[in-house]
Amino acid sequence: MSERIIIRKATLKDLEAVKRIADVNRASIGFVLRAALIRNIERGWLLVAEEDEMVVGFANYRHRRDDQTTLYEICVAEEHRGNGVGRALLDRLITECQQMGKRYLRLKCPADNEANAFYSKLGFEQVGRERGKRRELIIWEKIITNLEKDLARGGSTLCVL
Ligand SMILES: CC(C)(COP(=O)(O)OP(=O)(O)OC[C@H]1O[C@@H](n2cnc3c(N)ncnc32)[C@H](O)[C@@H]1OP(=O)(O)O)[C@@H](O)C(=O)NCCC(=O)NCCS
Repeated sequence: MSERIIIRKATLKDLEAVKRIADVNRASIGFVLRAALIRNIERGWLLVAEEDEMVVGFANYRHRRDDQTTLYEICVAEEHRGNGVGRALLDRLITECQQMGKRYLRLKCPADNEANAFYSKLGFEQVGRERGKRRELIIWEKIITNLEKDLARGGSTLCVL
């Protein structure tokens, strides 16, 4: 990843840039409502990737009350793909999940979307499939490991090599 890429929380100033990227990629990620983005910016649940002061990608998610975080959308502007931006967004989100004591990061991706190879590359496991409104969806899950917390809980089923 270029050293010029910064991952940070979105602010309302990023709204139009994020919405533009979402709209261009509507076929892949579906229609993203401006109101939903605003709500998540206010909650601190939207990350942006910035290069040369320009937003080039985003991850929109929700920390549920239980131990799950749900990733709604991740998207990188086409001309910036293949440079590690998507990985950097997910790495940052996973760190945030660890800090919050979350156990699972889950998402659904249309079966015909190339992004399935991306999730597999990043260590997600396919845990199910379901029929979506228009397309079949693959359910992906990443178990969030947090060694310190697991030890504090009095042992772990996790094997850390
Ligand atoms: C999926 C997406 C976010 C990946 O972002 P990206 O910045 O291009 O991904 P990265 O460069 O960080 O790639 C990380 C790894 O995944 C792999 N990867 C990424 N996209 C891939 C693809 N389409 N097919 C196969 N592997 C892929 C990369 O090769 C890389 O592996 P490496 O580190 O071993 O080289 C981006 O392609 C995108 O925005 N797609 C359109 C929106 C979308 O479909 N989002 C998902 C909806 S469910």
